Amino acid sequence: MTDDAARPPEPAPRTTAASRTMLSHIMGPTEVNLLGTVHGGVVMKFVDDVAGAVAGRHSGGPAVTAAMDEMQFLNPVRVGDLVHAYAQVNWVGATSMEVGVRVMAEPWNEAGTAPRHVASAYLVFVAVDDKGQPRGVPPLVLETDLDRRRHAEAEIRRSHRLARRRAIQAARAGAVGGTGSAPEAEGADA
Ligand SMILES: CC(C)(COP(=O)(O)OP(=O)(O)OC[C@H]1O[C@@H](n2cnc3c(N)ncnc32)[C@H](O)[C@@H]1OP(=O)(O)O)[C@@H](O)C(=O)NCCC(=O)NCCS
Repeated sequence: MTDDAARPPEPAPRTTAASRTMLSHIMGPTEVNLLGTVHGGVVMKFVDDVAGAVAGRHSGGPAVTAAMDEMQFLNPVRVGDLVHAYAQVNWVGATSMEVGVRVMAEPWNEAGTAPRHVASAYLVFVAVDDKGQPRGVPPLVLETDLDRRRHAEAEIRRSHRLARRRAIQAARAGAVGGTGSAPEAEGADA
């Protein structure tokens, strides 16, 4: 058997539309902080859920959250608000996918008003096999100008993420104490 024959078949390309997902939820009284607005962590969980559904649909199996960045909270969410999270794949690599999420809220006491944009985020998911190891994801078919813009912007974010990681690793390698220092003694090292 040749190496080519042993390799799993290349997954068929998929459009952004094939995995695009919307989740809705009415915020309840157990989800608020002392100010009466919804906890940021509740919104983040909601964002992670919808993005995970998109990543699972695109990759055709399990996918784990590898990174969540550019989480922006633009407006408060209140008890009773009907909240919608819209998500789609913006970019794919060999095993990872960037998913963009936009969260909109309809205030419970202002029927008929346009939903407000309350949060946005970009998450990286990695498709994994049954051993938790990264597995190949289908190429992404970009169909619209909006898809192409989101893809181009995702490439910029990807190159910044990689550059930042490399710079931090290089700085730690050169720092006094280097990577051998004990993180538990120092707080929030990643
Ligand atoms: C995500 C995970 C599977 C990556 O495993 P790994 O052995 O580090 O994988 P690799 O270094 O081979 O990277 C695989 C891909 O993920 C990307 N990746 C890994 N970590 C990343 C990060 N922090 N940010 C962005 N991309 C990342 C790599 O760039 C690579 O992309 P590509 O294949 O599309 O080029 C592994 O770190 C993991 O299991 N993390 C825990 C995930 C989890 O449990 N999430 C739930 C929250 S608790």
